[in-house]
Amino acid sequence: MKVLVFGSLNIDYVYKVDHFARPGETLSSREMNRFCGGKGLNQSVAFGRSGAETYHAGAVGIHDWDMLTGRLKEAGVRTELIRKKEGPSGHAIIQTTPEGENSIILYRGANGRITREDVDFVLSHFQKGDILALQNEINQLPYIMERAKSLGMKIVMNPSPVDEEILKLPLASADYLILNEVEGEAISKVSSREEEGMLTELMRLFPDTRIVLTLGKNGSLYGYRNKICRQAACQAKAVDTTAAGDTFTGFFMGSIIRGKSEEEALEIASAAAAIAVGREGASSSIPDLKEVEAYGREKL
Ligand code: RIB
Repeated sequence: MKVLVFGSLNIDYVYKVDHFARPGETLSSREMNRFCGGKGLNQSVAFGRSGAETYHAGAVGIHDWDMLTGRLKEAGVRTELIRKKEGPSGHAIIQTTPEGENSIILYRGANGRITREDVDFVLSHFQKGDILALQNEINQLPYIMERAKSLGMKIVMNPSPVDEEILKLPLASADYLILNEVEGEAISKVSSREEEGMLTELMRLFPDTRIVLTLGKNGSLYGYRNKICRQAACQAKAVDTTAAGDTFTGFFMGSIIRGKSEEEALEIASAAAAIAVGREGASSSIPDLKEVEAYGREKL
């Protein structure tokens, strides 16, 4: 079973600040670093490091090709389906605070220049039963979902960042919906204070979809049909939370592909995310399976 992550590739410019810039404020940063990121690329790295046979599809500007595809290759991810585009790649401007919180501004760049021909070319390499992981940082999502569904691929949707466009997608056709409480509130209209109520409403709205709700320090919830389970978060000192959700998604699905139960997959994914928040950067913070298993033996 192959995994296709069709998603963004970004250069992340990460600025360490004492607090997020306020309206009208000019704020000096203590440090600036440049990392490989993008929710798509981060999730590909997490799938690859969790041991899944992973292909990335998407688009990058010519100048960033080596840096972005190099990071994917290091994680064992196949890159031949990525297209080079004229003009700039996607990038993100990220502020991180001493508490490890972040705020992100995105510029879509090449991530927004995917054509229907690109989609047809990519999907011609996949078949029934293969997994397609999507996030909300590229164009052509409705067409990708429609074509993948007609091929019989299993769709894993991470509706992040959440916006009006994502609410128009046929989310009920996803096999897995992996989302945090902010995305859950936007989609279910249930307050993020009512975690289990939100899960129940998502299960009602999407009865054929397995729901994974991540709740930060409160752990995560899984629900499908008459099964609900909860996993406590692994405690970790947050250095930089960027890509924690992407790490969780890749390791949760990577574990399911390796035949783990949902309970085990939640446990492995939360250990992987805990390691990631203790490190700086996006894809550079994502551990490999051996590190996650070693962490699990010590801490779980
Ligand atoms: O999820 C984290 C990612 O969001 C960052 O790497 C940034 O590029 C944005 O896409």
